[in-house]
Amino acid sequence: MSSLLVDTIGELVTNGTGEGPLGIRRKAAVLIEEGRVAWVGPAAYAPAADRRVDAGGAAVLPGFVDSHAHLVFAGDRAAEFAARMAGERYTGGGIRTTVGATRAASDDELRATVRRLRGEALRQGTTTMEIKSGYGLTVADEARSLRIAAETSTETTFLGAHVVPAEYADRPDDYVGLVCGPMLAAAAPHAKWIDVFCERGAFDVDHARAILACGQAAGLGVRVHANQLGPGPGVQLGVELGAASVDHCTHLSDADMAALAGTARDDGSGTTTVATLLPGAEFSTRSPYPDARRLLDAGVTVALATDCNPGTSYTSSMPFCVALAVREMGMTPAEAVWAATAGGARALRRDDIGVLTPGARADLVVLDAPSYLHLAYRPGVPLIRQVLLNGVPQ
Ligand code: NIG
Ligand code: FE
Repeated sequence: MSSLLVDTIGELVTNGTGEGPLGIRRKAAVLIEEGRVAWVGPAAYAPAADRRVDAGGAAVLPGFVDSHAHLVFAGDRAAEFAARMAGERYTGGGIRTTVGATRAASDDELRATVRRLRGEALRQGTTTMEIKSGYGLTVADEARSLRIAAETSTETTFLGAHVVPAEYADRPDDYVGLVCGPMLAAAAPHAKWIDVFCERGAFDVDHARAILACGQAAGLGVRVHANQLGPGPGVQLGVELGAASVDHCTHLSDADMAALAGTARDDGSGTTTVATLLPGAEFSTRSPYPDARRLLDAGVTVALATDCNPGTSYTSSMPFCVALAVREMGMTPAEAVWAATAGGARALRRDDIGVLTPGARADLVVLDAPSYLHLAYRPGVPLIRQVLLNGVPQ
């Protein structure tokens, strides 16, 4: 069995036992065997290994877990972004533009985009990335989107209910029937999750509930695009259905907060429904940011993700989202780094990632910096020196 020692770590974020909420260890080393963390401890007591990575006193942290991304699409919407920066409002109408481009693209074009964006994210420290469909919106196009997504990630999400496509505009009930029937049947073999955009102009609460319930009956876990553009029923619907995550959470009422807080685990380790915040979307739509402080103070587990998509958030950078969360959303650097690693893992109901403790997957990043603090302190700077995926240097 070949082993690898990541040695001379100045500051190790474990998200397990150690100093503070990030479980920090100093002057540490991590032993990796068969793609898993086998040992964590003081560098002075590190066991012998076949190979060694010298962190040179830098910070090491779990790879980022980006639990919300829309990578299967064609075209871009730079002109729409420019119009917004000149004062136009985001309404979600541009989704149909991307649907048209995606339907017209070949499998290889879609595959190339997914790989390009996944590669971009990996170079910025993302070791797990959820990928949604949602720009096909026909049985064949949703199925192929998920097939292509599944070539790159095991965390795939069926988002046939992104918007009602133009050809069903005057008969949304029929589209919901299609999503719950043949589209779900074609998508489910390639998907782990189901998601719905529950928002004015997309799917109302009854349609969203029906679609999520069908997905659940087909064995998929639930996630919801909720309360992004205004107040609405999405968050409480997610809680009602036991969603792993409700995403966006930009406009939350006291009742939404209470519903999320009500999913607290008995052992005090946070909530079973995670609030996933996507500050890239507020950045790119010039909208008010969600109030992460309010969620954290209420005991709600918070994740950070990119929402990478051509409309509202064309970034694949988790470090950028960490910096935004700290500057704009009231999170401390430690809270933001936790949310971008362990928080994302919670949002995907995974306990083998987002932590660097014995038994976890050896997905980690070596920073070009002495501390995780630099991720927010030095925004826009490429601080990811090295990425290990499943114990393998990339
Ligand atoms: O998460 N809100 C819905 N879906 C995406 C945006 C999609 C688009 O505009 O293309 C989001 O922000
Ligand atoms: Fe999204």
